[in-house]
Amino acid sequence: MRKWMLTLNLQNVFSGLYLHAMFLFGSMCVVYSDCTPQQLAAFMNCSRHERHTRNYDYMEGGDVRIRQLFSNTLWFLTIDDQGSIGGTQDPADCNSILEIRTVSEGGILAIKGVKSQRYISMTKAGVLQGKENYSENCNFKEVFLENYFNAYSSAKWTKNGKEMFIALSPKGKPIRGKKTRREQKSSHFIPMKCQEDDKRVD
Ligand SMILES: *[C@@H]1O[C@H](CO)[C@@H](O)[C@H](O)[C@H]1NC(C)=O
Ligand SMILES: *[C@@H]1O[C@H](CO)[C@@H](O)[C@H](O)[C@H]1NC(C)=O
Repeated sequence: MRKWMLTLNLQNVFSGLYLHAMFLFGSMCVVYSDCTPQQLAAFMNCSRHERHTRNYDYMEGGDVRIRQLFSNTLWFLTIDDQGSIGGTQDPADCNSILEIRTVSEGGILAIKGVKSQRYISMTKAGVLQGKENYSENCNFKEVFLENYFNAYSSAKWTKNGKEMFIALSPKGKPIRGKKTRREQKSSHFIPMKCQEDDKRVD
């Protein structure tokens, strides 16, 4: 039963990935119309970037990678210019392009919106916000789950000793940290790089 569920989840994800690729290929002009040249450059550059940071994990000096975080509830995590955290199903939404930077060893990282230049932060009460200025509230611990997804828990705050995760509901809304659990689908994300760009560049 469990195995079946897992297969089902992965199928969802891969059809999501496939759609993502098709969308980017099919409509480049529409796709980037809202991006400034810098955002576009960042997005286009990310496949090249990836080659430099093949050693993905915890390189010295703060390894940076450009990613989209695609949730197991089928949303791309977004940070908008007002600092709201949410989800989009438009894979070309600039607010979904994130800069993920390693802050310290043990998988502590900070996640910043490329467009908004705001960091995802979690308050003590478990509320997600996009902050202009980096602080310890913006540190998250990346956990690799057995189902190929990652989870991101606040590195600063816990609720009664329990981790609080970045999570998007099935409707693409952020979930308050104290209601989140490691095993919930809403806390599971796949970091996606721009493989479409790889193809275009090569
Ligand atoms: C492109 O990637 C290179 C190498 O990783 C990096 O030094 C440069 O800052 C990137 N440019 C943009 C616009 O992201
Ligand atoms: C962020 O930091 C800058 C520079 O220190 C400061 O001017 C600004 O007021 C800060 N913004 C917020 C929202 O705290």
